[in-house]
Amino acid sequence: MDGIHKGIQKVGVVGFGIMGSGIAQICAQAGYETYVSEIEKKLIDQGLERIERFLEKSVEKKKISLDDKQAAMGRIHGASTMDHFNDCDLVIEAVNENMELKKKIFRALDTVCKEDAILATNTSSLSVIDIAKETKIPDRVAGVHFFNPVPLMKLVEIVKSIVTDDGVIERCREFCVTIGKTPIIAKDSPGFILNYLQYPFRLNAIRMVENGIASKEDIDAAAKFGLGHPMGPLELQDMVGLDTTLSAVDDIYNMTKDPNFAPPMLMRKMVSAGWLGKKTGKGFYEYDENGKKILTRELIR
Ligand SMILES: NC(=O)c1ccc[n+]([C@@H]2O[C@H](COP(=O)([O-])OP(=O)(O)OC[C@H]3O[C@@H](n4cnc5c(N)ncnc54)[C@H](O)[C@@H]3O)[C@@H](O)[C@H]2O)c1
Repeated sequence: MDGIHKGIQKVGVVGFGIMGSGIAQICAQAGYETYVSEIEKKLIDQGLERIERFLEKSVEKKKISLDDKQAAMGRIHGASTMDHFNDCDLVIEAVNENMELKKKIFRALDTVCKEDAILATNTSSLSVIDIAKETKIPDRVAGVHFFNPVPLMKLVEIVKSIVTDDGVIERCREFCVTIGKTPIIAKDSPGFILNYLQYPFRLNAIRMVENGIASKEDIDAAAKFGLGHPMGPLELQDMVGLDTTLSAVDDIYNMTKDPNFAPPMLMRKMVSAGWLGKKTGKGFYEYDENGKKILTRELIR
């Protein structure tokens, strides 16, 4: 694994959706030649448009210059195959949260990438060792978990599987610093650090609504004005999507049987009803077509 200590020059990103495009953007802005792959060209174009819009706003706000924007865009190279990852020093997988899909991607990366490349997954909840064991060199596989929206969220969790090489973790940590992030290191354990902390908090907020302990507005106000959180747990839950969180906490509960992660019945009912939050216009609160909260009747009884 000696080569692993060489500097990272070229970065690959598999999947150019919400997270992949954010990751590619910040890598390109930090000066890395960045290679991305998607299942079809249309999705590459959409990802590039998303980045272009973000950078355009940054130019308008005078956070970056027009030259910076153009230089960053010029460093992003898209393709619908993975062949151009052969020369990358670090490849970050950001495809859909599906174990079989991720395993397939890692088997392919294992063949395409050079032996000293680091292979990373942006998974939020899947086991890194289960993904790593699909490769011939599982000790070069780590989790590098970014948060949404990637260009704005400072935190990155680096996840060390039971076999990940310490040198790989150190290189990932150094890399995160070069792209302006604050890395923290976690074991390959359900929820890693942040979600292990925050899911029970959000589920407790839902249990309080379910049990009629307080109104949703007052629960959110407690977190904002008493704990200094930028958003209340129910507002945050609406933003993330109830279905997304339900699937994640179900997974953690099934793995750990820890009652802190048992989803409240109200959450299941809301997901069944299609009250998923902002994306469906209704969750704990109601939203207009621009995603703005509508102050209206109590939805939850
Ligand atoms: N959205 C979030 O808030 C968030 C936060 C942290 C981590 N994550 C994790 O990041 C990963 C990606 O999530 P997302 O929200 O960006 O999803 P997304 O649906 O926006 O993007 C996933 C992309 O992967 C592409 N893809 C699928 N198969 C592919 C293949 N074989 N080759 C190349 N591309 C392929 C899809 O076409 C899609 O564009 C997931 O593991 C998710 O759990 C998401």
